[in-house]
Amino acid sequence: MDKRFQYHFEPGKGWMNDPNGLIQYRGIYHAFFQYNPYDIKWGPMHWGHATSSDLLHWQEQEIALSPTEDYEDEGGCFSGSAIEKDGKLYLFYTSVSHALGQTQSLAISEDGVTFTKYEHNPIIRNFPVGDATKDFRDPKVFAYGNEYRMILGTIYGGCGRVLQYRSKDLTQWDYMGVLYESSDYHDVIECPDLFPLQDKWVLLYSRIEPGDRHVQFLIGDFDGERFVPSSAQLPEMGPQFYASQTFLSEDNRRILISWFYDWIRQPVPGSPSAGALTIPREVSLDETEDLCLYPVDSAKQFLEELPLDSSVHQKVGVQLCASPDCVQMISQHATSQCYQGPVEKVEILTDAKAVEVFINNGHHNYSIWGH
Ligand code: FRU
Repeated sequence: MDKRFQYHFEPGKGWMNDPNGLIQYRGIYHAFFQYNPYDIKWGPMHWGHATSSDLLHWQEQEIALSPTEDYEDEGGCFSGSAIEKDGKLYLFYTSVSHALGQTQSLAISEDGVTFTKYEHNPIIRNFPVGDATKDFRDPKVFAYGNEYRMILGTIYGGCGRVLQYRSKDLTQWDYMGVLYESSDYHDVIECPDLFPLQDKWVLLYSRIEPGDRHVQFLIGDFDGERFVPSSAQLPEMGPQFYASQTFLSEDNRRILISWFYDWIRQPVPGSPSAGALTIPREVSLDETEDLCLYPVDSAKQFLEELPLDSSVHQKVGVQLCASPDCVQMISQHATSQCYQGPVEKVEILTDAKAVEVFINNGHHNYSIWGH
């Protein structure tokens, strides 16, 4: 039997992957997500929608976007982001069609409940030839100076790339060029995000490794044109953590939520749904510019500290064992994870069928499903 989460969001039925369009709008937190309402596996992509007032208890809402138009008649409405302008909510997403491939589209809402697709979609109809390929997706939009920027992931010449566009009004977009190109990642960059943090900038993206997927964080500087990294970090190494996206709360916290599942996992027989959102984490840099991802205040009540005495703890199908120089986590599906390094503190969040492990106040984390 499937156990339902108590304080993580999961849809009532169907498949979900990436969080999309994260925003606090008129005081309420909105999380949209990649959603197939028809099956517990990936399929025609819709944007599901959930709202919360505390980032812990989520109410599932009506589907926000369905693939109804000819410009999204192949994969549907892929990942993207949200921004507020003049009291309205703007959703940007990748529309995927037989005729045009991956293009970028817009939907607007006056109330956060109903969403109307822009009549001149797609707003970006072609990828920039010579800089990108047909894998051209996951728009993240943010305000920059007195205009807006959009970044997108692609691959070109065997290297992952992030491209940048600019706009004054959120509908007309001009291509600016390559924001960042990776030297060590040779597949398509998925779900990029760029934001200021303390006095640095952070570029994060999701990377597909053989048999594995991770979220890469780069700390660096952004001059309005290019992002130049000074360090690369992987603060989360769990097997079920992907497609992270951040947003700025009304009280200026940078909050990150990820897809809590993976592509190869088989749902427990009888499960009405597959996939969830991770516990929202606040993002910060310590004094040495190391990134920390640590549960938001409302979730701290669920943190449980593990003793560093090598004792074995069984939690919802995950076996955990911590000592001053190592933390080991083995899921009942034999996924074995190991952190080796100085361990000062291990805290865990346990909910129904999964555990999120936070080592040294969020410097090294592991999100793992047991059942
Ligand atoms: C990442 C991803 C995105 C894409 C979406 C499709 O998990 O592959 O790049 O927009 O999922 O559902």
